[in-house]
Amino acid sequence: MINERQIQKIVEQLKKYINVAPEIGLMLGSGWGEVAKLIEAPTVVPYTKIKGFPKCHVDGHEGNFVFGKLAGKNVCLFQGRFHYYEGHDIADTVILVKILNMLGAKKLLITNAAGGVNTTYKPGDVMIIGDHINMLGANPLIGLFDGGSMKFTDMSHAYDEEYIIKLKGICQKVNVKYHVGTYLQTSGPNYETPAEIRAFRALGCDAVGMSTVCEVIMANYYGMRVAGLSLITNMACGILETPLSHKEVIETANRVKEKLQDIVCKFVSVM
Ligand code: HPA
Repeated sequence: MINERQIQKIVEQLKKYINVAPEIGLMLGSGWGEVAKLIEAPTVVPYTKIKGFPKCHVDGHEGNFVFGKLAGKNVCLFQGRFHYYEGHDIADTVILVKILNMLGAKKLLITNAAGGVNTTYKPGDVMIIGDHINMLGANPLIGLFDGGSMKFTDMSHAYDEEYIIKLKGICQKVNVKYHVGTYLQTSGPNYETPAEIRAFRALGCDAVGMSTVCEVIMANYYGMRVAGLSLITNMACGILETPLSHKEVIETANRVKEKLQDIVCKFVSVM
């Protein structure tokens, strides 16, 4: 586990690259990542340039911090996240949120690709995350003592209500079919079984994936304002006859990527 002192050292190294602190963190999942290209005057810092930074297993490239302006706001975009299924310690899966907090950013937009559990959803729809269920059996706050004592974080408004309203308006404007629903995180890396999906549906889950919940817990611990978006890339297991594949996830994401970029830019401008 990477401790507080080590994170401070990482942030000290990062600060040498930037002269403006980011106001907003952007953690964009599969299909949402092309927003990096839209960042003005970007400062790209590869994760490998930072001593003590964990290894990131992103398909085909190394992870990067991208600092710069998007829609008039100073942002820090993370290309490459740390998933529990990669074998990272649960506390290290949220290292990017810890860094963001130390850099002084108090707003977070987090997006992902997810399987539709709610049978009214369709691939290509967007789900504004209204709430979540932690199905990990692990929690990034375990063992975290704030000034020596345990903090019991309130999660009644884990996703900022005003952000949800703004996102609804933006999805309407860019003509994307959207829902407000509950996201459930499993550890992965296998996709779920049909029985698991039936169980999750009975629990009130609308979309399932393998990320986001840990980061949102950590961001709430710091009192950040959080917005979450899922792109429904496929119907969850057991709904259709076809087996689930990462290829389908990527294909759906490619089909709607321009609209997703548009949503992110419009939202960042009003965050
Ligand atoms: N299950 C879990 N994670 C996912 C899925 C899914 O169906 N689709 C995209 N990420």
